[in-house]
Parts: sequence; structure tokens; C-alpha cells
Amino acid sequence: MNAQTSESTQSEFVLECHSVGKTYGGLKAVSDVNIAARRGEILGIIGPNGAGKTTLFNIISGHVGSTTGTIVFNGADVTRKPAHTRARLGMGRTFQIVRPIRSLTVLENVMIGAFHAYPTREAAAQQALRVLERVELIDRAKSNAGDLTLAGRKRLEVARALAGNTQLLLLDEVMAGLNPSEANLAIAMIHRLSLTGVSVILIEHNLKVVNELAQNVVVLDHGAEISQGSPAEVLSDPAVITAYLGNRKVAK
Ligand SMILES: Nc1ncnc2c1ncn2[C@@H]1O[C@H](COP(=O)(O)OP(=O)(O)OP(=O)(O)O)[C@@H](O)[C@H]1O
Ligand SMILES: [Mg+2]
Repeated sequence: MNAQTSESTQSEFVLECHSVGKTYGGLKAVSDVNIAARRGEILGIIGPNGAGKTTLFNIISGHVGSTTGTIVFNGADVTRKPAHTRARLGMGRTFQIVRPIRSLTVLENVMIGAFHAYPTREAAAQQALRVLERVELIDRAKSNAGDLTLAGRKRLEVARALAGNTQLLLLDEVMAGLNPSEANLAIAMIHRLSLTGVSVILIEHNLKVVNELAQNVVVLDHGAEISQGSPAEVLSDPAVITAYLGNRKVAK
């Protein structure tokens, strides 16, 4: 990755969103959201279906342009930078619907995520192997991606997102559809990644997962940020309870 200025590397925050909004026609999918993720922390983003969580990720990663606001990554304004530039600067993301290239091997899928930082085939393969170790998928490196279970495909998605010297990992519901023991393994994996210095922003429906992993949580509802704080603070916030009870039960 390119050297950052000493000023930017000293920023306390790996990511800042200032007054970020996205409008689709008349719909405010995301409205005036302000969040900041500290370097090395795990930040949870929760909210009912349609709250704007994935749209916020799309704005952060550069996959959709914001209607309003500013995105600052490692102290640098990246609002006008395309997704591939943000990836090269160290942002990696997973997609809610995992779409590995099923006819390629697990290793080859991860290499695709590595090429922008490791342009030769050999270097990309070495990096992909290192990342597969980190997500504990190394024993499936030569398998066809299409032969993985859902839990394996989710791990592969994390590996692809990590492959380019990623400093900030954006995880969109990587636990969805996993059984409790698979989810526990995924929680342990994310915790380990965080201990290696990767900052993580995690969209998650399972509040138990957020409670276990996140130091801070942002709650979205109808595109707006309705609460922020520690998991204990937000899960006892009456505004959050009302938002969830209007849509679904709060899982304790
Ligand atoms: N490309 C788009 N065009 C029009 N509307 C969109 C588009 N993408 C998202 N929306 C709308 O924006 C709102 C927020 O959607 P988003 O996918 O960000 O929610 P979410 O919080 O990720 O929901 P879920 O928990 O179901 O994944 C929804 O009303 C959705 O229908
Ligand atoms: Mg979503």
C-alpha cells in the first residue's frame, strides 16, 4: 500500500463518515449519518431490514456514490475515489450475497482479491495462501469454490476481502445462515483478525454476535442513525427497542 502522510497515519480514526446520505428517487435510504471507527476496533452496525446498512457500506466502499456527505479513510478524503482506489488504499468488503466464482478453486478466488496489491501470479498466490491460513480455509485451497458449504463460502468471502493488505474490513452479515457452532467459529475468527490489527465494521442481525464482538455499535432505522454507544448502551436504549419491536423481536 502507498505510504500515507505522517499526519494521516496518526489519525485516531480509520474511517469517518460525515453527514452521509443516499437518496433513491424519493426514498432516503441513508440520511445524514455520522460515524467514526477507531483504529483496531470492531464497530457493529445494526438495524431492522431495510434500515440502510448495506447502502451505507456501499457508500463507504465506493460501490455507490453518496448524495451528501464525506468519507474519510485513514485521514484522507476518499469521497470522490472509486471503489478500486479505496480497495488499493486498504479497504476490503464482503457482499451480503456471497458470489464466489464456483468453477475456480478457493485459492484462485482469493488471488483475484489479491492482484491489485500483488500483481504477479506468484505473489498473489503466496498472499492468498497466507490469507487462507488466517481464515482457516487453507485445507480447502485446491477445492472448487462451488463445493464449499455456506460457512466455507462466507469464509472465502472474508478471505477475498482481506487479500489486498486490508486495514479496514467491512463485513455484511457474514454470520447469516450459519448454525450456532459455525457462527461461534466465525466469531472467533473475526476476533482473531481484529487482534492482528485489522479494523472491522460489522453489519449483523444477530445481536448476540454484536454483543460479543463489538466495542461500539451504531443503530440505523429508516436510513437514520438512532443510537450509538457500547452494545449494552444501545441494546437498552428505548429508541432501539422501539425500532426493533416494530419489525422483529430483540434477541437477548
Ligand atoms: N439500488 C437501489 N435502488 C432503489 N432502492 C434501493 C437500492 N438499494 C437499496 N434501496 C432501498 O434502500 C433501503 C435500504 O436498503 P439496504 O439494503 O441498505 O438496507 P439493509 O439495512 O441492508 O437491509 P437488510 O437488513 O434487509 O439487508 C431499502 O428501502 C431498499 O429497498
Ligand atoms: Mg443489507
